[in-house]
Amino acid sequence: MTVIVTGGAGFLGSYICDVLVEQNANVICIDNYASGTESNISHLFDAENFRFVRHDIAQPIFFDENIDVVMHLASRASPLEFYDYPIQIFKANTLGTWIALGIAKRHGARFLFASTSEVYGSAEVVPTPETYNGNVNPVGVRGCYDESKRAGEAICIAYKRQHNIDVRIARIFNTYGPRMRAEGVYGRVVPRFIYQALRNEQLTIFGDGKQTRSFCYVTDQIEGLLRLAWFDGASGEVVNIGYPEETTILELAEMIIEITGSESNMSFHPQPEDDPRRRCPLIDKAKNLLKWKPEMGLREGLRRTAEWWRAGTA
Ligand SMILES: NC(=O)c1ccc[n+]([C@@H]2O[C@H](COP(=O)([O-])OP(=O)(O)OC[C@H]3O[C@@H](n4cnc5c(N)ncnc54)[C@H](O)[C@@H]3O)[C@@H](O)[C@H]2O)c1
Repeated sequence: MTVIVTGGAGFLGSYICDVLVEQNANVICIDNYASGTESNISHLFDAENFRFVRHDIAQPIFFDENIDVVMHLASRASPLEFYDYPIQIFKANTLGTWIALGIAKRHGARFLFASTSEVYGSAEVVPTPETYNGNVNPVGVRGCYDESKRAGEAICIAYKRQHNIDVRIARIFNTYGPRMRAEGVYGRVVPRFIYQALRNEQLTIFGDGKQTRSFCYVTDQIEGLLRLAWFDGASGEVVNIGYPEETTILELAEMIIEITGSESNMSFHPQPEDDPRRRCPLIDKAKNLLKWKPEMGLREGLRRTAEWWRAGTA
């Protein structure tokens, strides 16, 4: 079996490459290192069944060998990048999805799209089911990400309807774990807090910290994504993959300070534009269809992530 993983040098993509290489699939990792790093995949460079192609997936690309599955994860995904790279984000999720679907169409391959909870925007229904259509501001600073993912989903379903491509859409909720970058003050919250806590710096809280998120450990997320990609009965399905419990940002900060034994305090900053107040998935569909639910508790997942950071910065 040959699997293309776009965005394979990123946080989630590199774990998918690891699992597939281990399972003896031929893995073609396409990445332009926009937000991924060579260090995420360099341990795979010697594997005979792993090939890295440095390429922007918004540009056409063709393969001679037969392709069985295309997993499209290429897209910058952190809030900092929404400010600096809105056009690249739009292209990766629209043109990039189109091009990746074109590969699937030419080869009769199965297709998985890494969508996001952000398609729900500021959800009025929490926990949010897949049937909720969203509440998104198209012209806000998050619009490049939210709307391009929504368009990406629509393109997938168009290929399913018109060409009967076997597409699957994963709505991924906040996921964390080793290999996630810190990316400074506006980066994703778990690595940012751990980075700050390990340095005894103030943890930056945006708004009052009472906004909620749900945090899924990376190995659970990867298991969910692979089940969705592999399960025969999931063609055309849209499935939430995430941790089904809400935590406030304040609770998260306190937990990370405690786990790391940090002397950090917290500093409060204005809430970013269109930052959702609550976010939590309903995962009944994943449970019923894929027999999947996350196994890793938040405290233990954070402890493991902090250990990884500590080992890397020691
Ligand atoms: N991690 C999460 O919590 C989360 C939540 C929701 C959705 N997602 C989605 O999952 C996917 C992976 O996210 P991640 O957390 O691993 O992010 P990441 O930034 O670590 O990985 C994204 C990868 O895509 C690559 N990339 C970006 N644009 C590209 C392009 N035009 N051509 C080729 N490669 C390109 C980057 O270099 C990087 O390696 C993304 O599509 C993201 O939107 C992630």
